[in-house]
Amino acid sequence: MDPMLTMAVRAARAAGDLIVRYVDRIDTLNISAKGRNDFVSEVDALAEQEIVGILSKAYPSHAFLGEEGGRHNLPKGEYTWIIDPLDGTTNFLHGFPQFAVSIALIHRGNIECGVIYDPMRQELFTAKRGSGATLESRRLRVTKQKAFTGALLGTGFPFKDQRHNDAYFGMFRELMKDTAGIRRAGSAALDLAWVACGRMDGFWEIGLMPWDIAAGVLLVQEAGGIVTDFEGGTKYLETGNVLTANPKLHPLMLDAIRPYVTDALRYKAPLGD
Ligand code: IPD
Ligand code: CA
Ligand code: CA
Repeated sequence: MDPMLTMAVRAARAAGDLIVRYVDRIDTLNISAKGRNDFVSEVDALAEQEIVGILSKAYPSHAFLGEEGGRHNLPKGEYTWIIDPLDGTTNFLHGFPQFAVSIALIHRGNIECGVIYDPMRQELFTAKRGSGATLESRRLRVTKQKAFTGALLGTGFPFKDQRHNDAYFGMFRELMKDTAGIRRAGSAALDLAWVACGRMDGFWEIGLMPWDIAAGVLLVQEAGGIVTDFEGGTKYLETGNVLTANPKLHPLMLDAIRPYVTDALRYKAPLGD
């Protein structure tokens, strides 16, 4: 395995083990709100420290953008690690076992490696640009689902910023009409990993952050899936609007979603604004 990917796996497993140690003591944790419906616990911070500690020791010259690290602008360094130490904090805080560690490495603007680790199921998803994506050692492929009939989609509700409710529920209504079901599981990183491994046929969400999606985007792409923003472009890291599916279903989802795109969705403020 690529040495940087190996190091990312080590860091993700260490953070996942740490998170699992707190699962039975959630009621003892200090929990605070970073914003409306946006909670964070000391476990998020400890997990991030664990990851950054391991990676910065191995790669002292690399830059880090971690959700809990207080960095607001994408650093311009040659190598940047993008880290969500605990994706699905609300689930974690409720003992709802759907959360993950997500780590990606960006090199000169490209996502080079991605690791998503689900510590409850002990499932490790990895991707290396140009070399495919795996779940443990199994090579991942997106589904071959061609139509909405029978398709299972994933989504996330825009609960932190409810200005987009009308746009979102328009999209939801369209996609609910003909599909077999829509799941809102609560961890965007796992949603993407689950599209990559074929547990869901597609996924869309408004306003995600780079640390929610960087690793998952690479997983889906390396599993043969398509990832775009809501207009079919590549501005998903900038806008946070992610639409992903297999190559047959993606255009159908795009046609359903695009009519609901507003200027407010199109021009999300940059990180930190
Ligand atoms: C959240 C999860 C959730 C998504 C939110 C994210 P967090 O990440 O990925 O599924 O709907 O928008 O912020 O806050 O638990 O790391
Ligand atoms: Ca997240
Ligand atoms: Ca998080």
